[in-house]
Amino acid sequence: MDPGNTFQQAMVRINTGGMNDKPPSNPFDLSGRHAFVTGGVRGIGLEIARGLAAAGASVLISGREKGTVDASAAALRDEGLAVEAVALDMTDDQAVTDWFEGYGQDIHILVNNVGMRDRRGTPDLPPEAFSRLLDFGITSAYRMTRLVQPGMAARKNGAVINITSVAGPLARPGDPGYTAEKGGMSALTRSQAVEFAPMGIRVNAIAPGFFATEANAEWLDDAEVNAFIERRVPMQRWGQPSELAGAAVFLASDAASYITGQTLTVDAGLSVRM
Ligand SMILES: NC(=O)c1ccc[n+]([C@@H]2O[C@H](COP(=O)([O-])OP(=O)(O)OC[C@H]3O[C@@H](n4cnc5c(N)ncnc54)[C@H](OP(=O)(O)O)[C@@H]3O)[C@@H](O)[C@H]2O)c1
Repeated sequence: MDPGNTFQQAMVRINTGGMNDKPPSNPFDLSGRHAFVTGGVRGIGLEIARGLAAAGASVLISGREKGTVDASAAALRDEGLAVEAVALDMTDDQAVTDWFEGYGQDIHILVNNVGMRDRRGTPDLPPEAFSRLLDFGITSAYRMTRLVQPGMAARKNGAVINITSVAGPLARPGDPGYTAEKGGMSALTRSQAVEFAPMGIRVNAIAPGFFATEANAEWLDDAEVNAFIERRVPMQRWGQPSELAGAAVFLASDAASYITGQTLTVDAGLSVRM
C-alpha cells in the first residue's frame, strides 16, 4: 500500500466533511457577501462597516435617524465603498421585524454593534434602567440574529459578530448594568455558536478595550481616566475605532472558518496585564 496515497485519500475524506466552499485565494476576501452592521452611523460600527466594505462586502448600516445614517453611508460611498443605510431603531421589535421581512433577508455577515451604557452604581440604577440596558444590548442582538439565522442556515454559511467589551469578564466598580449586558453578550455568543455550528453559522464576539468614540466623549479629556489608561493599558493609549476593523474582517471571513464561540479581545493588553 502506498502510504502517500492513503494519506491523500484520508485528507480528501476529512476535507469533504469540512468547509462548504473552496476557500478563495485571499481568505480575507468578502466579495459577494452582504453585511449588516447595526449602529453604523459613527464610532466602532462605522469603522467596522468601512473595513468590511474595503474587504469587498456590500454593507448596510443602521442608525436611528435617517439623516445621519444616510450621511454616513454616503461618505463611505464617496470612498468607493458599497455601503447603504437604513433608519431603524434596533430595539423596536415590530419595525425591525417588518424591515427584515421586506428587505433584510439576504445577510451573510451580521455585526451586532448596538449597545448602551448607564454608568450608575447599584443604589442609583433602578431595575427598569437595568432592564433597558439588557434590552438595548442583548435582546436587540438576539432579535437580529434570530431573524438572519434561517437564511444563513439555508445557505450553510453565515458569520455573526457580537460587540461585547472587556467590561464583561472584567468589572469596573459601580457599573453593574453594562457589565451584565456585555457579559450576557459573551454568553449568548457561546450559546448560539454551539447551537448554530451544525448549520454552517459561526458566532463570535469582539471585546474592545478603551476606544476613542463619541460615547466616551466625557472621558477622553478626563485627566483621571487618561492617567488610568497610561497606568493600566500596556500600550498606554486609547484605541482608535478603525483598529477594530481588522478583527471584524477576520472573524467575518473564511480565514476564520474553524473559529466559533470565541471572544476576540482588542484592548492593547489591558486584560492580560498583571
Ligand atoms: N467605545 C468603547 O470604548 C467601547 C468599548 C467596549 C465596547 N464598546 C461597544 O461597542 C459598541 C459601539 O460603541 P461606540 O463607542 O462606537 O458607540 P457610539 O459612538 O455611541 O455609537 C453607537 C452607534 O449606534 C447607533 N445606535 C445607538 N442606538 C441605536 C439603536 N437603538 N438602533 C440603531 N442604532 C443605534 C448610533 O447611531 P444613532 O445614535 O444615530 O442611532 C451609533 O451609530 C457598543 O456596543 C459599545 O458598548 C465600545
